[in-house]
Amino acid sequence: EAAGLVEDGMLLGLGTGSTVACFLLFLAERLNRGELHNILGVPTSLRTAQEARELGIPLTSLAENPVLDLTVDGADEVDSHLNLIKGLGGALLREKIVAQASERLAIMVDESKIVTALCEKTPVPVEVVQFGWEIHEHFLESVGGHPVIRRLPDGEPVTSDNGNYIIDCHFPGGISDPEELEGALAAQAGVVESGFFLGMATRVLVSGEEGVRT
Ligand code: A5P
Repeated sequence: EAAGLVEDGMLLGLGTGSTVACFLLFLAERLNRGELHNILGVPTSLRTAQEARELGIPLTSLAENPVLDLTVDGADEVDSHLNLIKGLGGALLREKIVAQASERLAIMVDESKIVTALCEKTPVPVEVVQFGWEIHEHFLESVGGHPVIRRLPDGEPVTSDNGNYIIDCHFPGGISDPEELEGALAAQAGVVESGFFLGMATRVLVSGEEGVRT
């Protein structure tokens, strides 16, 4: 269904994750069948860039094409206002940059990711610079969160494609005012970006047992 949103000549933002990996397969299939022409994609991660290259999907950059027609991406949670949490795959910063450069943002999820309040089921990822990252844990605790630095199996902190750390912050029961929390996070020096994508999605495709609803 998401691959069907793509039209000839479009500049596309390509999200990141397991759902996007499926989307790329269907997109490549449409290209190979000759159904689609002249599309170019901007990948939101090194992972997506590699997946797209392997499938023969032509790529470009925001330097060459700073305004995109459509970005297609997954999400970790979606509320009834189409606000999202993204970034459990670690690509939140590039995903948000690419989404903001796009005229439209289409999100693909299944029913399990629909929530009443953001953070109901998943933590919100917060990307922070390495210097002094510990202070953000204290800040997140002071606003009622339970922060956990994301680590590799060997115990080392995970570094994002941008060389930053990611703190996953849990808010048991969810949060009532994501705008306020997003603003508070943005005011902290060293916080690069949060996984709140508020007022950005223009369409959410939800797959369930009875097919896809928009
Ligand atoms: C990547 O950083 C994320 O924002 C993903 O879009 C999100 O985690 C959804 O991933 P899946 O499609 O793998 O569930």
